[in-house]
Amino acid sequence: MQIYLDTANVKEIQEGANLGLIDGVTTNPSLVAKEGRSFKEMLLEICKMVDGPISAEVVGVESEAMIKEGRDLAKVHKNIVVKVPLIPEGLRATKKLAAEGIRVNVTLCFSPTQALLAAKAGAWCVSPFIGRLDDVSSDGMALIRQIVTIYKNYDYKTQVLVASVRHPQHVVEAALAGGHICTMPYAVFQQLVKHPLTDIGLKKFLADWDAMGKK
Ligand code: G3P
Repeated sequence: MQIYLDTANVKEIQEGANLGLIDGVTTNPSLVAKEGRSFKEMLLEICKMVDGPISAEVVGVESEAMIKEGRDLAKVHKNIVVKVPLIPEGLRATKKLAAEGIRVNVTLCFSPTQALLAAKAGAWCVSPFIGRLDDVSSDGMALIRQIVTIYKNYDYKTQVLVASVRHPQHVVEAALAGGHICTMPYAVFQQLVKHPLTDIGLKKFLADWDAMGKK
């Protein structure tokens, strides 16, 4: 499973990238607004840090505006994936952008029928928001399983990008469900490697080694 960072914070992205395990980055208008800086300048900086797909979202809500924005964003760097919302206008824009060879991440997906339409429109990936479904007492991971099955049944090439991830267990379940990509906040990424028994075990190994040296 590919691991993406879901942030527009370049410090976090650089730290994650230093480990060499980050396959891509997703941003959204809320994450970009939090940074308070030029969008395109930020995207270029991110593209230099991570050599993989970098999602950048349009803010237009009509297909013509989305197509124009999408073309502009795609020109920023070859690794930019244009993110469009899963509304009828977004699907129309996806079809057009995909036909031009621009990769599209169809975002704000909350149902299997939406995901089916995103694949039919030619999306490069679809982003189901599992955390936000869990927040309203729905089963976010069940949606991932449904989409993975539907895409397999009809051999759609659209990838399932598991988004709105809140904790490591979401990552485990995304991988078990066969999600292609999982995007997560940097704090969740940091938690993936941690285990207290690893720390306790290492401390004991080193203490035993030191004790042998003193004999
Ligand atoms: O980038 C989209 C998604 O991952 C947002 O997550 O935590 O705001 O629901 P969240």
